[in-house]
Amino acid sequence: MLYIGVDLGTSAVKLLLMDGEGKILNIVSKEYPLYFPHPGWSEQKPEDWYEQSIAGIKELIADFDKSQVAGISFGGQMHGLVILDEKDQVIRPAILWNDGRTTEECDYLNNVIGKDKLSEYTANISFTGFTAPKILWVKNKEPENFARIKKIMLPKDYIAYKLSGVHCTDVSDASGMLVFDVKNRCWSKEMCEICGITEDMLAKVFESYETVGTILPEIAKELGVPETVKIVAGAGDNAAAAVGTGTVGDGMCNISLGTSGTIFISSNKFGVDENNALHSFDHADGHYHLMGCMLSAASCNKWWMDEIIGTKDYAEEQKAITKLGENHVYFLPYLMGERSPHNDPLARGTFIGLTMDSTRADMTQAVLEGVAFALRDSFEVAKSLGIKIERTKICGGGAKSPLWKKMIANILNLKVDVIESEEGPAMGGAMLAAVANGEFASVEEAAAKIVKIVDTVEPEPELVAKYEERYQQFKQIYPTVKALFPKIQ
Ligand code: XUL
Repeated sequence: MLYIGVDLGTSAVKLLLMDGEGKILNIVSKEYPLYFPHPGWSEQKPEDWYEQSIAGIKELIADFDKSQVAGISFGGQMHGLVILDEKDQVIRPAILWNDGRTTEECDYLNNVIGKDKLSEYTANISFTGFTAPKILWVKNKEPENFARIKKIMLPKDYIAYKLSGVHCTDVSDASGMLVFDVKNRCWSKEMCEICGITEDMLAKVFESYETVGTILPEIAKELGVPETVKIVAGAGDNAAAAVGTGTVGDGMCNISLGTSGTIFISSNKFGVDENNALHSFDHADGHYHLMGCMLSAASCNKWWMDEIIGTKDYAEEQKAITKLGENHVYFLPYLMGERSPHNDPLARGTFIGLTMDSTRADMTQAVLEGVAFALRDSFEVAKSLGIKIERTKICGGGAKSPLWKKMIANILNLKVDVIESEEGPAMGGAMLAAVANGEFASVEEAAAKIVKIVDTVEPEPELVAKYEERYQQFKQIYPTVKALFPKIQ
C-alpha cells in the first residue's frame, strides 16, 4: 500500500509518498506566500495551504498506482490560529507560530493569570506564538471576528478537515495551544474560560497515529484515489519530524534546522522544567517530550544568503569557512524575536565583534555558529534538569550542510547521527499513516524498522574546547544588549 505524508511548512508544503516498507517513492514541494502585514506579524491564507496541498498530492501520485493509496497524514507548522465561521469558512488569515503581536495578551496570561496557574493547567506558559494569546488578541482587537468564531483549528488540522470533513486535532499539536492539559491529554476547562471560548469550538482530540475518518468521496474522485483512504491525525511538525528521524521512546534527541530551529527530547514520562523555558508537550508516539524552539534558524542563513549577500549557492559560500572555533564575529539569530529560552519577542538579530579585517566568510560563519550557539542555550536548560543526552539526530533544510552539522556536533558536544533521509515531518506523517493502517504495531516499531543511520559526525575534543570558550562569550551578548531592544523597535 502507499502512504502520503503532508508537511505543511511555513514556506511550502512538502509531500512525500512512501510504500508499506518505508521506502520513499516521490517528494513534491509547493510554495505559498507568507505575509508580514506589520513588523513582527506573520500570516498565511489557509486557502493557499489547501490549494497547494491538493495540487501537490496530484503531482505526487501522478505516476503511481493511485488505487494503492491507503492513508494520508500530516506534520504541520504548530500554534497557528485558524478560525472558522458557522459555514466553516475561514474568518481571517491564519496568525502563525512566529507572529509577535500578542505581547499584551502574553503579559496578561503570564502576569495577571500567572505562570504558576498556566503551568498547572497546561504544563506551559504563554509565548507570543502560542495559540491562546492569539485567541485573546482576536477577542480584544477584532471583536467582530471573535463573535463569528464557531471552530478554532491548527494549520494541518484545517487540511485534515477539508479532506475528511472532521474537525480534528492531535495531542502533540494541541499541546502548543496553551488550551490543552498536556499531562492528561485533554482540553483544559480553565483555559477555555480564560480565553472566553467554549470546548465545542475546539476540535476532537486524537493520538497522532489514530484515524480521524475517511477521505470525502468528492475529494477521492478529484485525486483518483479510493474512498477508503484513511485520514490520520498526524502531529505538529516537530513531533512528526521526531517520528521521521526515529526520535521516539525515552531519552532520544532530534535537532531540526528549518525556518525555526528546535531541540526535541523524547521522554516516556511527563515532566516540566520549573522555569518553563522549554516546552512540555505530548509526543506522537503516545508519550511526552521537551522542546526548545528558536524562531529563526535556517531562515537566518537564507536571509543572509538570499537578501544580503545575494547568492543561491550556499555550499560554495561555505567553502570559504576554514577556521572553526576561531571566529571573533558573533551573530545573535533573533530576526523574529526569540522564544526559547529567552521568551523575548523584541530581541533582534545582531552582529558584534566586527573589525576592519572581518570578511564575508567570517560573517557567514557567525550566522551558522550563532544558530548553533542559540540551540545550545536550550540544550543547557535540558542539561540543568539532569537530562543526559550524548547523541542527536538532525533534519530540516539546514541539515543538508556538512559544515553546519560539524558546528552543531562541536558546539553542543554531541554525536550527530545522520539518517538516510532528512525529510523529517513529511516522513513522520507518512509513517503515522502507515501505523494507522496496521503496517506497523506502533510508532516505535515503524521507527525501528524504517529509520536508518548512515553516518555519525563525532565531536572533536580540540574543537569542542575552542567552541566552549566561544560559547561562554556568546552567552554574555544577549543579557548585555537586551535592554536596548525595546528602545530600537
Ligand atoms: C514549535 C514552533 C515551530 C513551528 C515551525 O514550537 O513554533 O517549530 O512548528 O513550523
